[in-house]
Amino acid sequence: MRSSIRRKVPAEIADNRLRHLNQTLVRQVEQETEKRLLQERLLIQQSRMAAMGEMIGVIAHQWRQPLNALAVMIQNIQEAYEFGELDQGFLEDMVHRSMQQIHTMSKTIDDFGNFQRSGMPHAAFDAARAINDVLILLSGLFATHSIDVVFACKPDAEHQATIMGCRNEFKQAIFNLLKNAYDAILERRDQGELIPRGKILIEITGSAGRVVIAVSDNGGGIPAEIVDRIFDPYFSTKDQGKGSGVGLYMAKLIIENSMKGCLYANNLQGGALFTVELAAAG
Ligand SMILES: Nc1ncnc2c1ncn2[C@@H]1O[C@H](COP(=O)(O)OP(=O)(O)O)[C@@H](O)[C@H]1O
Ligand SMILES: [Mg+2]
Repeated sequence: MRSSIRRKVPAEIADNRLRHLNQTLVRQVEQETEKRLLQERLLIQQSRMAAMGEMIGVIAHQWRQPLNALAVMIQNIQEAYEFGELDQGFLEDMVHRSMQQIHTMSKTIDDFGNFQRSGMPHAAFDAARAINDVLILLSGLFATHSIDVVFACKPDAEHQATIMGCRNEFKQAIFNLLKNAYDAILERRDQGELIPRGKILIEITGSAGRVVIAVSDNGGGIPAEIVDRIFDPYFSTKDQGKGSGVGLYMAKLIIENSMKGCLYANNLQGGALFTVELAAAG
């Protein structure tokens, strides 16, 4: 019987094949990485657009009241003219009051504009002040829907609440958490549960070089079956047009990737608790 003779591959050819295989693999990995990066960038871009959409909704709400007031005043001027009551005093009063309303509207746009300026360099900033800016933007919405907000910056943390990062990005992350708390409270009411007043509590504490920001609400909490998915992009339990599913994904990117902190969720009695942990700057 003849034993099978294996043909030996000369070492040089084997080397070449190996090298070629290596190069192909490296190229494939590079192509995959590039594809991933591109997808991630696209996703971030889309989250920005979605976030802008949510914020435009807030502005529209903030504008409704001054717009109504302006409409009433313009009608008043016309009526005063028709009844021969339009004197200089009346006109001056109306102009003054109209200008106040216009100023309010313009202020909302400035707040919004400051928000949207992203890509700013990282710098140290006060977390409490940044959160306060977001609260100002949302105050009208919360007031109309009987939602009380308590913002507690514990005294021992006050001088430690300086954090490092892009202030506008951080504001965006906090906005997303607060908007979710608001959505949860409204949804709970829509389902007929009697919660006379919505409650959102924001607490800043700090110890051992860490700043901890806790945002909790009485919106009923996160159902156990979805809790593992809430940070996934495009995961939403809200009706179309109400939720884009990118708010928490974006907040996590900002807090964890950009600011090197962590963001996680828990349930409390009657609501959800989102915790942001960051290193204190300086
Ligand atoms: N405060 C909260 N209370 C209860 N559920 C929440 C809360 N925040 C987020 N969620 C859940 O997480 C999901 C994802 O949130 P998010 O990424 O902001 O997307 P969206 O708000 O557009 O649905 C929400 O649809 C909701 O089911
Ligand atoms: Mg959201």
